[in-house]
Amino acid sequence: MPQDHYFSAEPASPAELRERDVVLAGRPVTVQTAAGIFSPDGIDKGTAVLLKHAPEPPATGTFLDLGSGWGPMALTLALHSPAATVHAVDVNQRALDLVRRNAAVLGCAVTALAPEDVPEHTAYDLIWSNPPIRVGKAVLHGMMRTWLPRLAAGGEAWLVVQKNLGADSLLRWLTTEFPDLVVDRPATSGGFRLIRVARP
Ligand SMILES: C[S@@+](CC[C@H](N)C(=O)[O-])C[C@H]1O[C@@H](n2cnc3c(N)ncnc32)[C@H](O)[C@@H]1O
Repeated sequence: MPQDHYFSAEPASPAELRERDVVLAGRPVTVQTAAGIFSPDGIDKGTAVLLKHAPEPPATGTFLDLGSGWGPMALTLALHSPAATVHAVDVNQRALDLVRRNAAVLGCAVTALAPEDVPEHTAYDLIWSNPPIRVGKAVLHGMMRTWLPRLAAGGEAWLVVQKNLGADSLLRWLTTEFPDLVVDRPATSGGFRLIRVARP
């Protein structure tokens, strides 16, 4: 049997659905997670850094959680800003299914999509991402080249990356690769860097 990664499209392992109590958008909630996806036992430490330090999302707009896993970021965006359009994008179908289940149970609106199913001309006012560093630079850079150009005027992307997994080299690459965007590093916490990419 091929080995599963959290970024497998169709994890071969049994789903082993489980419930976890977490706090999203300041509310205690129960979510479903499963084997074969990223951080199945709750909120990842890096994700928690982004949720704590990123500014509150605007009330309206079109938002993207890039690499959503079971959905902690997309669900937070949708719970916080019920009038916004929220996309959760992942290559892992099991993760997308969990986002749909969690959004339904929490009564919030998230559209969970594989990358190729996002309408081509979608522009995002806000992107939150704990990107998949372990996929390797070629895939990671490809993701950045696909999604960051979709930032709307005035839009911002917030990325959380572990310091010792190449946060500073990603920041340098982003600065060179996207001269029309403003890249900076507003916070560091618990070994993670927050990178902001803004379209003026
Ligand atoms: C570090 S995890 C973060 C998951 C979730 N946002 C969280 O905070 O728990 C990165 C996610 O990116 C997804 N991923 C990997 N390659 C991707 C790609 N090319 N496009 C979109 N998502 C991808 C993985 O399946 C994984 O769920």
